[in-house]
Amino acid sequence: MSNQEAAELTDQFLMHTYAQLPVAFVRGRGSLLWDADGKEYLDFVAGISVLGTGHCHPRVTAAICEQAQTLMHTSNLYHIPQQGRLAQKLVEISCTDRAFFCNSGAEANEAAIKLARKWAGKHREPDCRDIITAEKSFHGRSLATVTATGQKKYQQAFAPLPGGFKYVPFGDLQALQAAVDERTCAVMLEPIQAEGGINVPEPGYLPAVRDLCDSHGILLILDEVQTGMGRTGRWFGYMEEGAVPDIITLAKALGGGFPIGACLAKGTAAEAFEPGDHASTFGGNHLACATALAAIEAIERESMVQNAAQMELYFRQRVAELQADYRFLGGVRGRGLLLGLELRGLDGRKLQVACLSEGLIINALSEDLLRIAPALNICKAEIDEGLDIIIRAALQVSGD
Ligand SMILES: Cc1ncc(COP(=O)(O)O)c(C=O)c1O
Repeated sequence: MSNQEAAELTDQFLMHTYAQLPVAFVRGRGSLLWDADGKEYLDFVAGISVLGTGHCHPRVTAAICEQAQTLMHTSNLYHIPQQGRLAQKLVEISCTDRAFFCNSGAEANEAAIKLARKWAGKHREPDCRDIITAEKSFHGRSLATVTATGQKKYQQAFAPLPGGFKYVPFGDLQALQAAVDERTCAVMLEPIQAEGGINVPEPGYLPAVRDLCDSHGILLILDEVQTGMGRTGRWFGYMEEGAVPDIITLAKALGGGFPIGACLAKGTAAEAFEPGDHASTFGGNHLACATALAAIEAIERESMVQNAAQMELYFRQRVAELQADYRFLGGVRGRGLLLGLELRGLDGRKLQVACLSEGLIINALSEDLLRIAPALNICKAEIDEGLDIIIRAALQVSGD
């Protein structure tokens, strides 16, 4: 099947949920992808921060093959050894005590929202149900998580929305202080807003939010769906400043490309759910958990978290060197390998298309911002190559 034939099938048989670029990938390895017409690409998107370990990491692929031949699924009616081991591992590398497994980021956040409300029912007043989130946040597309998402454009067509959410500007501690009242049970934030534009809060903001939550006796939920599993150069985004959350949500890179999500919790929050409160048929099955364990092992054995931190420095240094010659290169924001490359006087969406035809997959988050989120094991030579392509493509676009 060619790129064209794949596009025709999409056109004819799929709902119009995605505005796709005209390419169909059929094979991948590390930071490389090949399309249906045999063309090779360097990947700076990594499945939207999913392929932390790169495409088809041998350890991840081997775990999938082995587990698929042994046992894929039984259900949560029975104990699942891999699920226990994965929960143990996540508890060890984070600040949490217990895990609940699901299949996506939205589901992980749904679990967190329900958990916070259940916790509040036990530890606070019965009508203490509200969750404060940030403007420009992104927490998912289910009805509750799209409501948690502080962006009207994702919500407008789907009213009535569930109640119980309030929004404050991200990074504004005073606004948060003013918004907390006796109905508030939790604050829910991304450590770095990803979809909303790679927005990094000022130093001290997250620790101050932690203190605020403590002083009001409410929970801090950190949505680490995109920042988690090493992407920011630490296992979790909260570790940068040690603002320890009560609840962490994960998905994306947790399964090394395989769908799995998790809601982790500590202390009394970890004890709030009781049998019957929450469930997921597929959540944490043998195959998903064996794969996630292999992905974590690959990250650890190959020091990918450290590599993400080092490659951030290298990327920043290279961009700083190139800025003298190429005025369209603006600043770099973000952390680890969740970076935003600001553009000056150049349309990011046009640049994204030009990069694709030059063999680089890149994501324009807006007209003036490219998201750089490659695999955590990307190397300096691949960063150099990607930047060369961005410059070549930018010169084409600006010469249009
Ligand atoms: C921070 C964050 N939370 C939640 C989600 C939703 O995850 P999913 O698409 O797996 O439901 C995303 C997806 O981009 C995200 O970036």
